[in-house]
Amino acid sequence: MSVQGEARVLTTRRLLEMKQKGEKIAMITAYDYTFAKIVDKAGIDIILVGDSAANVMAGHETTIPITIDQMIYHAQSVMRAVKNPLVVVDMPFGSYQGNSREAVSSAIRIMKESEADAVKVEGGSEVMESINRILSTGIPVMGHLGLTPQSIHKFGTYAVRAREEDEANRLIEDAVALEKAGCFALVLEKIPAMLGKKVAQMLKIPVIGIGAGKYVDGQVLVMHDMLGLTNDFSPRFLRRYANMHDEALNAFESYVNDVKNGDFPNESEQY
Ligand code: KIV
Repeated sequence: MSVQGEARVLTTRRLLEMKQKGEKIAMITAYDYTFAKIVDKAGIDIILVGDSAANVMAGHETTIPITIDQMIYHAQSVMRAVKNPLVVVDMPFGSYQGNSREAVSSAIRIMKESEADAVKVEGGSEVMESINRILSTGIPVMGHLGLTPQSIHKFGTYAVRAREEDEANRLIEDAVALEKAGCFALVLEKIPAMLGKKVAQMLKIPVIGIGAGKYVDGQVLVMHDMLGLTNDFSPRFLRRYANMHDEALNAFESYVNDVKNGDFPNESEQY
């Protein structure tokens, strides 16, 4: 459910149908009401309330510090805006890794308090017990393999993952296991395009890529990156659709000048 309690068009079932029909899936991150409303209008299929909020909203270096309370706050703001897209909320670092009972409690809290549609969890076999438990409660789970930013301190780098055969084989095994467990979709981040293609062909569930090439079933980008609000981050996979950093900067500079020069407000802008 969403605004005014209307049932939304995009469901996990519809996503499966889209994969079967070869319709590409467009997913984007959002963290607040105003942008979620615009994204909804644009016809996006899935909104991810990503833990990348830790980076683009809060200015942290990694996604590790964000809390469940903060994720719920962002998810609630997004949910007040959406009519059509499926809304998936990232389970933050520490809320599901160590203990599968705690994982269920975290997922239930996120679903109850945000009223979103699903959660996303990073990792494969190492978090399978948590994923199984969450799924057993009826909460839809989206998997996430390849570059998993919550494990950045283990990897030590944001470089492309699974270039070597061993790691690629492990990723394939995890992808198959996630589908078998009952995940409704899978995100693949920063892996070779041919590996993305192979996984998408092997799985019946939709595979959404970010830096996983063009042969997967859909794409996801971080909103602030694709809008060009951030300009200090330029991985090869990122297409910028606007330069909102410069537009915002120009607007702020003009405003400062107008105030300082006494040009704002003018006669018609006062009571
Ligand atoms: O948090 C996020 O934005 C994500 C995407 C990169 C898929 O997990």
